[in-house]
Amino acid sequence: MLIASLKPRTMGGTTNMGLLAYALHRAGHPVTCYDADESRQLVRWSLKATDFPCKVHPADTPSFAESVYPGMDHTRINLVDAGHAENHPDIVDSVLEVADLVIVTLSPTEPDYERLVRPERGTTIAKIIKRSAAMRDSEQPPATYVLLNRCQASSGSPQKYRRLLTNGGEDGTDHRWTVLSTRIPRLEKIASAVGSSPSHRDVKAPYDALVTELTRLGHVPEQGAAR
Ligand SMILES: Nc1ncnc2c1ncn2[C@@H]1O[C@H](COP(=O)(O)OP(=O)(O)OP(=O)(O)O)[C@@H](O)[C@H]1O
Ligand SMILES: [Mg+2]
Repeated sequence: MLIASLKPRTMGGTTNMGLLAYALHRAGHPVTCYDADESRQLVRWSLKATDFPCKVHPADTPSFAESVYPGMDHTRINLVDAGHAENHPDIVDSVLEVADLVIVTLSPTEPDYERLVRPERGTTIAKIIKRSAAMRDSEQPPATYVLLNRCQASSGSPQKYRRLLTNGGEDGTDHRWTVLSTRIPRLEKIASAVGSSPSHRDVKAPYDALVTELTRLGHVPEQGAAR
C-alpha cells in the first residue's frame, strides 16, 4: 500500500512522514519511504539518523506512477513525502494516480487554512485530489484525511478549524474534509525531529496514536501484516 503526504506549502509534512515511518516500524510494520520533494529532506534524515527505520528512495519525478510505483514492494507500507503542491502539481498529480491514502498536514491557523482553501495561485489541493479520479484505476479519488499538527495544548483553534474543515467553511460552500482525531502537538521536540531519532515519549506518542487510528479506520493492516 502507498500513503502519501501532501500539503500546499510548508506545513510539517516531512516531520510527519518521518515520525510516522518510525511509529509504523515500532508497531511491527515493514516500511519503505519515497521522497518526492526535490529538497530531499526525508532522504537526508534517513542518512543522518542511524536508526532510521527504512530506506528512503528519491522519487521527485512527474512520472512517479510509471517509473517509481511499479517497482515498489506492495506487501510493505510505502510512504511518500510530496513537496509543495503549489509548485509541483505535476509530481503531486502522478503520486495521486496511485496513492491508496492521502494525509494532508495542516496547522490550525488562519494562514494555513486560507492557503488550503483559497490559495493565492494554483489549484486547491481539494480540486487536485478530486480530479485525480480520472487517472485512477478505481475512478475514485484516494481516501483523504487532514492531520492537524502544531496544535497548541489548551487552545480552541484545533476544534475551530476541525469544524470549518468538516463543514466546508462558514457557509458550507468549500470542500468538506475528513479530519483525523489524532492531533500532533506543537512541541519543540517535534520541531527539531527532522534528522534525528525520536527518543522522547512526547514525540513518539502522537504518531503511535496516528498508527492506531489509521489501523482502526482500516487503512493500515493489523500489526505486522502489511498487504
Ligand atoms: N509538531 C510540531 N511542532 C512544532 N514545530 C513543528 C512541528 N512539526 C513541524 N514543525 C516545524 O515546522 C517547520 C516545517 O516542518 P517540515 O519541514 O516537516 O515541513 P514540510 O511541510 O515538509 O516543509 P517543506 O516545505 O520544507 O517540505 C519546521 O521548522 C519544523 O521544525
Ligand atoms: Mg518537507
